[in-house]
Amino acid sequence: MKLSRELLENLSEITSNSAIACFPYIGKNEKILADKAATDVMRNQLNKLNIKGEVVIGEGELDEAPMLYIGEKLGNGNGIPLDIAVDPVEGTNFVAKNLPGSMSVIAVAEEGNLFNAPETYMEKIATGNHIPSECLDLDFTVEKNIQNYSDATSKKLQDITVCILDRPRHKEIVSELLRLNVNIRLISDGDISGALAVIDKKYNVDIFLGTGGGPEGVIAASALKSLKCNFQGRFLFKSENEKQRAKQMGIQDINKKYEINEIIKGESIFCATGITNCEMMNGIIKKKDRYITETIVTYKKSYLEVVKKDVSIT
Ligand code: FBP
Repeated sequence: MKLSRELLENLSEITSNSAIACFPYIGKNEKILADKAATDVMRNQLNKLNIKGEVVIGEGELDEAPMLYIGEKLGNGNGIPLDIAVDPVEGTNFVAKNLPGSMSVIAVAEEGNLFNAPETYMEKIATGNHIPSECLDLDFTVEKNIQNYSDATSKKLQDITVCILDRPRHKEIVSELLRLNVNIRLISDGDISGALAVIDKKYNVDIFLGTGGGPEGVIAASALKSLKCNFQGRFLFKSENEKQRAKQMGIQDINKKYEINEIIKGESIFCATGITNCEMMNGIIKKKDRYITETIVTYKKSYLEVVKKDVSIT
């Protein structure tokens, strides 16, 4: 089983089930328990697949178990060797507070094709596939990126919307965006969704930028690559410990800026199931004896679909 339709179906089944595992914790102010419930189901079900998987992007290191940790082997060990990136609950605060935007996410690629990095922050910039990739660059100033986007799309600055996490570390970027008179969409959490909002005009985000989780960056890059969108990322290793760990994992230049093709080599599969309502898919709906889930999937090249599942409550 290479990156097959069957694998995609299995993975979308798993994110659907890990999302359902969170359902009892929605609005219960229990983000750790919600994450654990989703993680247990995701691990258990990935272990049943006919794959030889390894977590290359996950939630920390072995000593931080029970989360799915970097280096953890998954699957029955017999099938296709896979690199796996997991985020059993993206937007734990949203689940805890019953707010829109939480999802359960997996991205996979053949072994050696997903970037392998310790859990750390990443500077990111993403745009849709309607402009050339070289228009925007992490090394350009905010003004130059916005001006280049405006030139490439003939949009006036006041008609451009930039999505960015609402964090003190973004104070200068936000001041610059205000000075340029562009629209800002400040998100409290959930920068996978923030980055994916560039895929379609209907989400009204022209540019996603700023610093967020590294795993979330790699996972978003998987979907963006399938849809031929633009993404650059640069890991930010703060402590000496993180820098040493990155070097052990084979990252020679810890300041390197990565293009999307270096983060995701070849093809990949991305599955994200809504836990609470998301912009791109509904959250879990509980009926009398069943759950209805929606999962967005991207598969190989130029493929995006919303998969609905109707799961009996056992
Ligand atoms: P969790 O679901 O793990 O809580 O992550 C939510 C999130 O907003 C991510 O989407 C984002 O990449 C990261 O946290 C940002 O981290 P921080 O809150 O430390 O700025």
